[in-house]
Amino acid sequence: MILTVHTETPYQILMERGSLDCVGTEAAKIFGPGTRAAVVTDSNVGKTYAQRVVSSLNSAGFQARVFSFPAGEEHKRLSVIADMYTAFSEQGLTRSDFVVALGGGVTGDMAGFAAATYLRGIRVLQIPTSLLAQIDSSVGGKTGVDLPEGKNLVGAFHQPSLVLIDPDTLRTLPPLFFADGMGEAIKYGCIRNHTLFSLIARGDITAKRDIEPVIASCVNIKRELVERDELDNGDRMLLNFGHTFGHALEKLHGYQGLTHGEAVGIGMVMISRCSEAAGITEPGTADKIAGVLQAYGLPVSDRSDPQRIAQAARLDKKSRGNSISLVLLRKIGESFLHPLPHEKLGPFMQVLS
Ligand SMILES: NC(=O)c1ccc[n+]([C@@H]2O[C@H](COP(=O)([O-])OP(=O)(O)OC[C@H]3O[C@@H](n4cnc5c(N)ncnc54)[C@H](O)[C@@H]3O)[C@@H](O)[C@H]2O)c1
Repeated sequence: MILTVHTETPYQILMERGSLDCVGTEAAKIFGPGTRAAVVTDSNVGKTYAQRVVSSLNSAGFQARVFSFPAGEEHKRLSVIADMYTAFSEQGLTRSDFVVALGGGVTGDMAGFAAATYLRGIRVLQIPTSLLAQIDSSVGGKTGVDLPEGKNLVGAFHQPSLVLIDPDTLRTLPPLFFADGMGEAIKYGCIRNHTLFSLIARGDITAKRDIEPVIASCVNIKRELVERDELDNGDRMLLNFGHTFGHALEKLHGYQGLTHGEAVGIGMVMISRCSEAAGITEPGTADKIAGVLQAYGLPVSDRSDPQRIAQAARLDKKSRGNSISLVLLRKIGESFLHPLPHEKLGPFMQVLS
């Protein structure tokens, strides 16, 4: 699959099994000979894949060096970015050189942010290796880090020069993270593509079986929404389906015991139950979503008090002024933004009590 994302500077998304060994030849179509490449990766992905990427880059005439940091969201912080800047300057990166983000969403967001800010911006090539990164975070240019005060509070928009997806890397992804990514894929089906939803609903998609059409459909939806709304002020917000209640749940659980994908899945079911009760969404939609989530081992309900969920949702960073922009479905495959004043959120959620 080859897709072009028509942002201010267009770039391509390539997907092919085994393409990790072609990073060098693909990079040579964009970057000049002898260019330096800083391959940023985490401790898990690096030990399995970094050498292959470095060999491919070096055989194509680049000078590649690896920067590895400990895996995990808890390392998505500014001190690690500072270490990246040091490594980049020790390697002698200039503005004609580039960064390679090799890993999941944490690596992509951090390497992208370091590239966006080092020397006021150098180019970045995204090689996503988790399902979530392949279908979502590697495309669209959102980069950043967490602060102790909250997730993704510092960041920049910095579109990649190329996204290279090798679905074979998913064979080593731990099952929990594969399921997490499937939660996001189900979200894409819900907001934009009934056919994708039905494909996933078969319940038998694995890293080895039929994952390519799922990745291709999701990436294409992301491409379309990013092209229409590069800076996330309008239609791109449809990607937040399930996130309003999902973020609230993550917060109520103290960011432990519930993964992001699990929380978003529960959030999709909850908000659809509310909008069905309000006569907005086709009846039976929430049950359909719950059925597909369960097929991939994802939870569909939570015991948190709905009024506390509403309270946490009002404080969400996506809340603007006195209202919150909810993403609702008319039916599977059709979504829209629905602004709701804060005081109406409690009554809207009454059905969950
Ligand atoms: N920029 C965006 O648009 C955007 C969108 C959604 C999420 N995100 C961010 O993405 C992050 C979550 O991404 P994630 O779930 O990929 O997390 P992650 O990067 O931490 O990866 C999950 C785990 O899987 C491991 N891993 C990744 N690929 C592997 C592979 N092929 N084989 C073996 N292990 C592998 C990682 O080492 C890690 O332990 C969050 O920080 C979130 O904020 C960003």
